[in-house]
Amino acid sequence: MVMESPFRADMAKGKVALITGGASGIGLEISTQLGKHGASIAIMGRRKQVIDSAVSDLRSLGISAVGFQGDVRKQEDAKRVVDSTFENFGRIDILVNAAAGNFLVLSEDLSPNGFRTVMDIDSVGTFTMCHEALKYLKKGGLGKSSSGGGLILNISATLHYTAAWYQIHVSAAKAAIDAITRNLALEWGTDHDIKVNVIAPGPIANTPGMDKLAPKEMETKTNDYLPVTMAGESWDVAMAALYLVSDAGRHINGANMVVDGGQWLSRPPHLPKEAVKKLSRAVEKRSRAAPLLPRSKI
Ligand code: HXC
Repeated sequence: MVMESPFRADMAKGKVALITGGASGIGLEISTQLGKHGASIAIMGRRKQVIDSAVSDLRSLGISAVGFQGDVRKQEDAKRVVDSTFENFGRIDILVNAAAGNFLVLSEDLSPNGFRTVMDIDSVGTFTMCHEALKYLKKGGLGKSSSGGGLILNISATLHYTAAWYQIHVSAAKAAIDAITRNLALEWGTDHDIKVNVIAPGPIANTPGMDKLAPKEMETKTNDYLPVTMAGESWDVAMAALYLVSDAGRHINGANMVVDGGQWLSRPPHLPKEAVKKLSRAVEKRSRAAPLLPRSKI
């Protein structure tokens, strides 16, 4: 479904955004929406062909876009891409850390290197990009004409709020991203006027993440557990990003914006609705007639 943005078309005009993982899935939709709202876009990713195709799609929409091949696990790549973005556009206002790695695996089958790989991409990669971008994002930073600092948006998840089957590596990595976000929001918000926030998407249709977590080969029933009865779309996540980029988000720092339709709160009900309606009063009546003894007297 194509939805109209409720934001002003020029709300990000003049801003420059660097998006890791910006050539596919949620990262690409954030790139597209920021670009459609006036930002110049640099995307970073590992696969040249995928980047080239995304850049060409963005340009066909009239967006000023460039792509850089690089792996967030390599500090030299992070530095090169951040510097190249600055050289290309003369400033960096927004860093979106959307690059991530995932696969389903039983904890007992996961090698330490498999665990480390996801930590390296998601958590260390996020920190490395922030570290390299700091000199451009901070108040009065290189190329900045305004006195304010920039914005960092980290893409996390909700699966670590409780526990998630076969996702120990990703849960640990996303928990670290949330912690990195809060600590940078505190330190860099205070020292450099940089805002750092997290967006935590739930299941989002047609993304590499959904392909991996709910493979088409399996009949998964994610929708059964969503209070709003539908999986989200990348658009929903991109709108949350626009809100945080907009002036409406100017006082938001260190926040975690969950975009999941309430899914993480949800459990399958242990009784059908009709049974609750019927039983509730009867149980109440019974317990008033014979109050439960305090546990100590049992
Ligand atoms: C068990 C696995 C595995 C699997 C890889 N490994 N796949 N172990 N089951 N299915 C192990 C390998 O055996 C190896 O450990 C280690 O992980 C590194 O694997 P490589 O293939 O060498 O790594 P690499 O080529 O760098 O690829 C990284 C990757 C890959 C994470 C494994 O899937 C990838 O590139 N993903 C990027 C795209 C992606 O996943 N997007 C989805 C993000 S979704 P050993 O010990 O053998 O050396 C997302 C949503 C979050 O983030 C949650 C939403 C609810």
